[in-house]
Amino acid sequence: QQKKENIRSLTMSGHVGFESLPDQLVNRSIQQGFCFNILCVGETGIGKSTLIDTLFNTNFEDHESSHFYPHVRLKAQTYELQESNVRLKLTIVNTVGFGDQINKEESYQPIVDYIDAQFEAYLQEELKIKRCLFNYHDSRIHVCLYFISPTGHSLKTLDLLTMKNLDSKVNIIPVIAKADAISKTELQKFKIKLMSELVSNGVQIYQFPTDDETIAKINSSMNAHLPFAVVGSMDEVKVGNKMVKARQYPWGVVQVENENHCDFVKLREMLICTNMEDLREQTHSRHYELYRRCKLEELGFKDVGPENKPVRLQSTYYFSRSYNFRGKGLKKQETFSTLYLFKILKHEPPFKQSERILQAKFEHLKRVHHEERVKLEEKRRLLEEEMAAFSKKKATCEIFQNQSFLATGSKKDKDRKK
Ligand code: GTP
Ligand code: MG
Repeated sequence: QQKKENIRSLTMSGHVGFESLPDQLVNRSIQQGFCFNILCVGETGIGKSTLIDTLFNTNFEDHESSHFYPHVRLKAQTYELQESNVRLKLTIVNTVGFGDQINKEESYQPIVDYIDAQFEAYLQEELKIKRCLFNYHDSRIHVCLYFISPTGHSLKTLDLLTMKNLDSKVNIIPVIAKADAISKTELQKFKIKLMSELVSNGVQIYQFPTDDETIAKINSSMNAHLPFAVVGSMDEVKVGNKMVKARQYPWGVVQVENENHCDFVKLREMLICTNMEDLREQTHSRHYELYRRCKLEELGFKDVGPENKPVRLQSTYYFSRSYNFRGKGLKKQETFSTLYLFKILKHEPPFKQSERILQAKFEHLKRVHHEERVKLEEKRRLLEEEMAAFSKKKATCEIFQNQSFLATGSKKDKDRKK
């Protein structure tokens, strides 16, 4: 009876106002501003800077690189842009010296390291007691534009190797650079060849998402156009009575924004207008999540223990600490877990703390016991295998012995007969 009196009834006609939540979100995002980080991977002079300038219609004034660097390097530059009232912090990371070394086997490594370093910085910020994720400058790479040379042949080993090593860490959008260097019919064949090579080598490139029905149609049709064949230029040429961005040649004009000439507009639409938020989201929920999971597992954290029971952070802490005491040198785990334990225990009453500590010790002992049992069982299995091998050898020896005994016996018989 009393319960019924406490129920609040809202009239169907009353306006509550939570329908304005999306607007509140939009306002907050606009105030906060956005950040987007693009990694351009491609050989020196392939047209990376020109394409970025053309994409954002801005002269970012990037210096050209020499072909004589002994190693691949990454160069990051951040710019603040504004379009109407939306602010964008744009970071462009370019490879320097990519494809210039004689031995290109390790060319992808600095790129992998760079991407990981940005994930690591974010993870460290997340693990701090006083986190500042709200105004943290997120430097994680949201998209990698991979520039393919317009050879018309196929992918180079360097391209395959690099993309293969990056595909689990970043959203890759491959582009055919300087597409004005390849004829229309060759381009179609080249695109098909590239896609089949990527598929047969198991390289995962970013697919424009088709789960949101408002953009599903355009995205799925654009997926079929990958890799985009692009032309970059900041030069303006008069075509008809309009000035357009183009590259002028003695035999004609290639218009950057003309869809009959290249896929530049498609790339800009897909990258900036339609899927920028999805690229940011995928970076966080897929690539960063994978990095974070591997890193935490590497540091000894587990969600479930040996008997599929949930493992609490404190147990991991005691486990790693006792390893340290036993001189196994897991220094990294120690500091890492101390951070967690400190966070957890800080606000608890002392008896609760002792209970947790005891519980953790108990769980740790159980784990040590289990691990030792597993080790013992493994030793027993090895011993049994050794015993089996020994018996087999013994049996073979006995057969040989018998055979030689019979042979010498029959020889003696023959001698005696003689
Ligand atoms: P580095 O930063 O030095 O590695 O070079 P980059 O990859 O940034 O190339 P950049 O944009 O500086 O372009 C190198 C040269 O290629 C310039 O002369 C550009 O004008 C030319 N270029 C850029 N884009 C295109 C294109 O789409 N087609 C053609 N034909 N040339 C282009
Ligand atoms: Mg450049």
